[in-house]
Amino acid sequence: MIVTKTKDEIRQVVRRWKGKGLGIGFVPTMGFFHKGHLSLMEKSLNRTDRTIVSIFVNPTQFGPNEDFNRYPRDIERDISLAKDTGVHAVFIPKSEEMYPITPKTWVTVDELSKNLCGRSRPSHFRGVATVVAKLFNIIQPDVAVFGQKDFQQLQIIKQMVKDLDFPIEIVAAPIYREKDGLAMSSRNTYLSKEERKSATCLFKALKRAKELVESGKVRNSKGLYQDIKSFIETFPFTKIDYIFIGNPDNLEPVNELKKPLLVALAVYLGKTRLIDNVLII
Ligand code: PAJ
Repeated sequence: MIVTKTKDEIRQVVRRWKGKGLGIGFVPTMGFFHKGHLSLMEKSLNRTDRTIVSIFVNPTQFGPNEDFNRYPRDIERDISLAKDTGVHAVFIPKSEEMYPITPKTWVTVDELSKNLCGRSRPSHFRGVATVVAKLFNIIQPDVAVFGQKDFQQLQIIKQMVKDLDFPIEIVAAPIYREKDGLAMSSRNTYLSKEERKSATCLFKALKRAKELVESGKVRNSKGLYQDIKSFIETFPFTKIDYIFIGNPDNLEPVNELKKPLLVALAVYLGKTRLIDNVLII
């Protein structure tokens, strides 16, 4: 596996592979790999000749009071896991390599960024879209894989690719979960034993929501909202950031529970903010 740290190095690798007519798959990440990340790599490996993974904790997508400094990092472990998965190259730039100066150009995907996580993290998706656009320009992949765990991010990237004519196919990968249903996340490592126990409330609430919608037991989103809220509140250490019930395409809330329906949650477990979602089709 090739390990690169600069834009020039990874561009050279890409040029060589493209010269041979090889298709390139790309998985952008912030590292501290879990099986969810590895499943994205496998998806890319199955679809293309060469897979590149970037590991970059992107400062521009963290708010001033968020966890940029304490975000978990273990580059050596990540390199070894990517290698074992069969990844062909990793790109691990330093902040100075990606942002030699504070950017004056930003990519914002307006409508899709305002609800869900956009409410409590107002400049988050601007940072995500900008860094992903930069990585797309550096790597110029044919295919890029994103997880449905970050559903809003996936929709934003799809929209950006359409609006800005990136010649890249965006592939969605399903949410990879722990045995008890908790969606895998690098941030799960922040949880205390007791918080970890309560953290199953997100998956349980979503499972329950799906059943309620499919059985027709709730009439409208207000009823569903109330049910999810009181269910989550029975778990200790929880504080709800948002419960979104809406249209998965435009990410606007709905009153009527019409399919396809997206139910998405952000819940604090102590100081750790976790997200999860279910698509009801
Ligand atoms: P990160 O949180 O490291 O996630 C990298 C990719 O892994 C994203 O596409 C995310 O949706 C996916 N992922 C995370 N947990 C998953 C799970 N349990 N199941 C399936 N996929 C999962 O998302 C980012 O980094 C950043 O915002 C990034 C796109 C790299 C831009 O900086």
